[in-house]
Amino acid sequence: MAEDYIVKDIALAGFGRKELDIAETEMPGLMACRAEFGEEKPLKGARIAGSLHMTIQTACLIETLVALGAEVRWASCNIFSTQDHAAAVIAEGGTPVFAVKGETLEEYWDYCDRIFQFGGEDGTANMILDDGGDATLYILLGARVEAGETDLIEVPTSEEETCLFAQIKKRLAASPGWFTKQRDAIKGVSEETTTGVHRLYELQKKGLLPFPAINVNDSVTKSKFDNKYGCKESLVDGIRRATDTMMAGKVAVVCGYGDVGKGSAASLAGAGARVKVTESDPICALQAAMDGFEVVTLEDVIDQADIFITTTGNKDVIRIDHMRAMKDMAIVGNIGHFDNEIQVAALKNHKWTNIKDQVDMIEMPSGSRIILLSEGRLLNLGNATGHPSFVMSASFTNQVLAQIELWKNGGEYENQVYILPKHLDEKVARLHLERIGVRLTQLSPEQAAYIGVSPEGPFKPEHYRY
Ligand code: NAI
Repeated sequence: MAEDYIVKDIALAGFGRKELDIAETEMPGLMACRAEFGEEKPLKGARIAGSLHMTIQTACLIETLVALGAEVRWASCNIFSTQDHAAAVIAEGGTPVFAVKGETLEEYWDYCDRIFQFGGEDGTANMILDDGGDATLYILLGARVEAGETDLIEVPTSEEETCLFAQIKKRLAASPGWFTKQRDAIKGVSEETTTGVHRLYELQKKGLLPFPAINVNDSVTKSKFDNKYGCKESLVDGIRRATDTMMAGKVAVVCGYGDVGKGSAASLAGAGARVKVTESDPICALQAAMDGFEVVTLEDVIDQADIFITTTGNKDVIRIDHMRAMKDMAIVGNIGHFDNEIQVAALKNHKWTNIKDQVDMIEMPSGSRIILLSEGRLLNLGNATGHPSFVMSASFTNQVLAQIELWKNGGEYENQVYILPKHLDEKVARLHLERIGVRLTQLSPEQAAYIGVSPEGPFKPEHYRY
């Protein structure tokens, strides 16, 4: 039988294992899940289709899910984010994985299809673990088309959609009824990131969410840590590995000052860049100003800045007219989930010179050039290796708890989007204290009563914003 995986080079598994061994020492939350639930195997029977950057940290998540009893099939949620040695070690361990750094968009959607191809009687996944919502989108869109809404896949508006629609048509022709059967088998989805969560709430609003979802992103121990402190480390890492540019003294513009924007601005400021911020939300704009950043419009600074980074999760933030007005050799990159934050498609008829993998120099009609990172896809994973293990441990511990909850108790939930209860959020944080030598102050019963909490927590009301 052919191997049930697609990786760049299975011989990289040895290197992958060595890095995974190190990651385990930095991922106390995941290791605690293995210790707490390893014997009970609460995910026994779960067949998880996973779509999330296939990195070393994700390898540690996958091995945790398997240790808890799940069957898992995996793909990356971005064509550039796979670490090939991480994919190799997972494949060698017997978990089917379909992920290659630099895969094409056709391959991307083919791999998305393959994560649902479980063997056995049912032949379906029964859980989704998603990052950005593409795996969920694939099944739900396919099922709608199967139900007669064929117009949904008639007119693609991007290269992504062209490949997605082609993949859906291929699957429909090969296995009529498959999408519907697959959709009906899903007990729930846990979603990793802001953009995917946004898609889930849209589905809920339109009455199109056919199973319960847990919004992992909005656990405090996810978005206030991974999105912020993760980007604080991985943004500048990506720019440096891509360009080796001197950061100190440069003028950098960060578009968006949400959690990712806050981490990104701090990352650049920490490297000595002079950072300016653009925002559309008055609260975040005020925060940026009071954190000491000049808040401007992109047009104000377009011909002055050296580095432009989008962090908004919105589309068309850096447009073609912006890129044409930039200084010669300005660096342009995105750390938000999708590449449509920068109008990369509009650059296609320009002169591109590939410098190295995921770094291109593009010449404007005026003769000035820009350096574009990861073709506008999230650069911390395309040009570097994403966030460090420690912060991903907090994110992924939330993922594991969400999968257990949906698998064991999913029937008790409506088809809506939920977040994990605060006591679990606090538990995730607690699991990460010892590794960095944090000592908590124990409230006396009198103190706890005075501020209206229990001495064991939760320590904050639901409306508290951190
Ligand atoms: P957020 O909602 O906290 O922040 C986005 C901010 O952008 C908001 O404050 C919004 O007002 C602002 N914004 C929207 N349109 C704008 C525009 N045209 N100009 C200026 N500002 C604008 O979202 P969060 O959590 O910061 O996530 C942002 C993106 O990053 C999402 O796509 C998310 O999925 C992704 N993400 C990427 C990670 C990575 O490692 N690369 C990690 C976590 C999230």
